[in-house]
Amino acid sequence: MDCLYSLNSHCTVHGMLDSSALPRSVVHAIKSCNASSSVHSSVEEAWNLRQTGHRQSLFNRIASNYDHLNDLLSLGQHRVWKRMAVSWSGAKAGDIVLDICCGSGDLTFLLAEKVGVRGKVTGLDFANEHLTIASERQAGSSNACYRNIEWVQGDALNLPFADSSFNAVTVGYGLRNVVDITQALREIYRVLGTGSTVSILDFNRSSNSTTTIFIQDWVLDNVVVPVANGYGLGDDYAYLKTSIANFPTGKQQEKLALEVGFSRARHYEIAGGLMGVLVATH
Ligand SMILES: C[S@@+](CC[C@H](N)C(=O)[O-])C[C@H]1O[C@@H](n2cnc3c(N)ncnc32)[C@H](O)[C@@H]1O
Repeated sequence: MDCLYSLNSHCTVHGMLDSSALPRSVVHAIKSCNASSSVHSSVEEAWNLRQTGHRQSLFNRIASNYDHLNDLLSLGQHRVWKRMAVSWSGAKAGDIVLDICCGSGDLTFLLAEKVGVRGKVTGLDFANEHLTIASERQAGSSNACYRNIEWVQGDALNLPFADSSFNAVTVGYGLRNVVDITQALREIYRVLGTGSTVSILDFNRSSNSTTTIFIQDWVLDNVVVPVANGYGLGDDYAYLKTSIANFPTGKQQEKLALEVGFSRARHYEIAGGLMGVLVATH
């Protein structure tokens, strides 16, 4: 059942994320025999919910150190990449826009600056710890265009918005973290208006450069995890490497976007190939 309650004056909560005790091996066994019955889909759904619950706990756990670690680990460069992604979403003055997996709101605030006081911005995330920080950042700023931001706790795989609600959507370092990337893209397509664009920033899983993969792995093993360890979060950040390894390449992301209905999809490598932005138009 959908749940809607107020976290503070600018924040609402949609949907309850549950978990189940099903082991992943059950899903593997069913997947490998290619079953398409309702038993398959309900087992898979339960597994997805369980994984979603784990990820929700992980992001709540790292929330208080997340922004500081981002600055430290990217030497502040993540701010430049986020600006690029927001620009490429095509958001403009007066637009109604959405930032999915908003975390503490970096892209959401940039979107608010683009759409201005006549626009409206929604930041959606399932981790309430992140949303609390985002909402405190909003309250601590006197920038008038930040007043038009609403924070919503909800699931990227089941967006609590009507079809064609938004003129632009952004996702920063979120798509890699959802348990079903195709479903997330399907939901983005559904809530975007015709001719509108989504811009998705994330790590890039390079398909053709072994040097980039080597550098990325080296930095993760020798910089990111040891630094995160210093904050007692080494195990949580170790998950980054697997998530990047399992993330679709730029070409695969373009293909997935076209498959869910987008009319154009282009993936751009940035930061020397370490990061990527998928830009897809409805
Ligand atoms: C790596 S953080 C990125 C935060 C922010 N966009 C940024 O770039 O700084 C990923 C965010 O995705 C959120 N997230 C992951 N899966 C989600 C889901 N299924 N629904 C909503 N939020 C999700 C996490 O809670 C977390 O805040």
